Amino acid sequence: MIKTPASGAASRSHDAEPVVARTVTELRTTVAGWRREGLTVGLVPTMGALHAGHLSLVAESLATCDRTIVSIFVNPKQFAPGEDLDSYPRTWDSDLAALREAGAHAVFAPLPAEMYPAGHATTVSVSGLTDCLDGIARPGFFDGVATVVAKLFLQAGADRAFFGEKDYQQLLVVRRMAADLDIPIAVIGCPTVREADGLALSSRNAYLSAPERAKAPRLHAEMQTAARRIRSGDGDVSAACADAVAALQADGFGPIDYIELRDAETLAEVTAMGAEARPARLFAAARLGETRLIDNIPV
Ligand code: PAJ
Repeated sequence: MIKTPASGAASRSHDAEPVVARTVTELRTTVAGWRREGLTVGLVPTMGALHAGHLSLVAESLATCDRTIVSIFVNPKQFAPGEDLDSYPRTWDSDLAALREAGAHAVFAPLPAEMYPAGHATTVSVSGLTDCLDGIARPGFFDGVATVVAKLFLQAGADRAFFGEKDYQQLLVVRRMAADLDIPIAVIGCPTVREADGLALSSRNAYLSAPERAKAPRLHAEMQTAARRIRSGDGDVSAACADAVAALQADGFGPIDYIELRDAETLAEVTAMGAEARPARLFAAARLGETRLIDNIPV
């Protein structure tokens, strides 16, 4: 049985009901109770609109930690003006039901004013890993992510945090940030969960119209074709990537931000794959109508 926080603001009526913490103090009180019992703690940061990809991270945390916190916070600092902050799907009731069903122990759902009170003036910025891919396509995005995730790590004081390889660059940036700031947490990457047709699950897939949804798996299919060509060693990397871009444009995808092969650890560009090559991944970001899709696969 988990103790309820002393503040009383969060409650737990029975074993399956997650504690809902709205403030950092409530979160810390909950975690302190677990620590007194000697329990290990896992953290799964999310922006809500939960799907099976998120829940796979929750399952991994539940399998490897005694207690699991899921944070739900649509972080305004990682949305540029004109991006989808206001329209980002917010599905609190079904998120809470899914987390109850999954067996999560606590949900941390702060308001923006709790995370960024008046006067908040500190930004966490990771260089190097953010000089490419979404670091270029979405200026300021990784500063917003690194800042909020650093805060979540320090607020929760968890032993492990779980991130999806779906957002592979984000996973590397967060791992670098935690190491550089000496935050004692293990950042664990978990495989991308896909629909049967190959489309990577994403909260933003909800934006797709029916015809767009039918077309969306082409992104993953073209990436697999390019990866096969690169692996087989025939033709060069840039031709395989350029052909994938052309095929997607012919299929009606809008601007293709990038299709690039990069080192799986450093994100340095990879122009050829030889027998001695280090692990690489193929990264893609493309617009389909109003929706921006991203994906990556190992090569
Ligand atoms: P969000 O897009 O909600 O994703 C939360 C976590 O779920 C991330 O680690 C993401 O990589 C993972 N995830 C999303 N789709 C997945 C899939 N199909 N398979 C496996 N994992 C998947 O990423 C964010 O939120 C935010 O940037 C956040 C880290 C919470 C900071 O605000």
